[in-house]
Amino acid sequence: MNVTVIGTGFVGVVTAGIFAKFDNKVYALDVIDEKIKSLSQGRVPFFEPKLEELVKEGLARKTLQFTTSYEQAIKDADVIMISVGTPSAADGTADLKYLKSAAKSLAPFLKPQTIVAIKSTVPPGTNQIIREIIEKETKQTFYLVSLPEFLKEGSAVDDTLHPDRVVIGANEPQVIDKLLKLHEPLGGMRIVVSPESAQMAKYASNAYLAQRITFINQISNLCEKNGANVNEVIKVMGADQRIGSHYWYPGLGYGGSCFPKDVKELAMYSLSIDEGDGLFVKLDQMNEARIPKLLKKYEDRIDSFEGKTVGILGLSFKPNTDDMREAPSLKVIPILQQKGAIIKAYDPKANTIAKALLPDVSIVDSLDEAVRGVDVVMLLVEWPEFVNKKAAFFKEKMKGSFFIDTRNQYSKQEFETAGLTYISIGQP
Ligand code: UGA
Repeated sequence: MNVTVIGTGFVGVVTAGIFAKFDNKVYALDVIDEKIKSLSQGRVPFFEPKLEELVKEGLARKTLQFTTSYEQAIKDADVIMISVGTPSAADGTADLKYLKSAAKSLAPFLKPQTIVAIKSTVPPGTNQIIREIIEKETKQTFYLVSLPEFLKEGSAVDDTLHPDRVVIGANEPQVIDKLLKLHEPLGGMRIVVSPESAQMAKYASNAYLAQRITFINQISNLCEKNGANVNEVIKVMGADQRIGSHYWYPGLGYGGSCFPKDVKELAMYSLSIDEGDGLFVKLDQMNEARIPKLLKKYEDRIDSFEGKTVGILGLSFKPNTDDMREAPSLKVIPILQQKGAIIKAYDPKANTIAKALLPDVSIVDSLDEAVRGVDVVMLLVEWPEFVNKKAAFFKEKMKGSFFIDTRNQYSKQEFETAGLTYISIGQP
């Protein structure tokens, strides 16, 4: 099939690469010339495991091409997937400007019966807005469907090849057949629903996971006051098959390019349909309040951050990505600086991006440098390079003794035996 993917972010490049791998003829389009030039040469402008190999494979086999030309990418397309960003506008609603602009630009070049699929995360009702924009620009018949994406950054290629489910939000039988055929090589169950259900399910899935994290963070707060250990609590809760023990570990709150934005958007969407008194506003507020609240706690534990050197481990929003959107580091570091701390920070992949986002912070080139001579170490991201280290490694290099583990990755006993003061989440 001829497939065109509009937008070359995480979802766009991975989607284009995967469909090209299965011998479709794929165009990936973006309006940013620089990105297209780089991708055309096989260089992915962000770090995502296995993606560069996938792109290079598609380019070498000539099943994948990158372009900035709507005419070139659209005129022969059987299926168009729009995966542009839908960031939160200032009021928290989903900003559809990139989606609307893509719809307007693609419309004049549509051939008859093309399937236009929205992959971006958008509120139910968006298809009608997009339909009207396209209909203004063309007389061709087209089908508008929803194909939500559930991949995670850091494992995006594997998630796309082996998803839990492929969700097809479409009403017309011939369109459903065609999309089922296109997705045939991918794993996972197929779920065919209406476009509105598909879009609602995407928001609901992300908000549910965000809620799960917020819930366990709240339980951790209680554990910190009553001597319970959140890891043990999770063990007990997780044994109930209705609950499960996965995707359930506490920390500094959820970050990244999706959950914070999607919870805010769902809260605003609920408000717009007169259902705004629900859970989602509170969820967002609790997540926003989490880092300042924890840092106050840490400050009390170590007496004061004033004049102390703090080695920050991990700057990305989670391991295996260099993405720093809504990363804990961006909130933690300025608060620590305000409290008088001197920061040294290191990330295995995000150092370059961090230098631009945190220009007044000393970003160092190795884990060794980040912990050498510091009073406090604060682990923000559970990169394997950090969590594989033993307590003795840190003890030998640090000047002080406070080790703050915001991801519960180490054994308290081991750290305390090594002579460090181990502060974690929800543990006595
Ligand atoms: C998330 C969803 O997991 C994907 O299914 C979805 O497709 C994607 O958003 C999206 O909408 O595009 P992602 O943002 O890449 O994927 O990252 P996750 O691995 O889900 O982590 C999100 C945040 O939750 C991170 O800050 C992570 O540290 C935090 N988290 C995750 C926890 O604090 N505890 C956990 O148990 C799991």
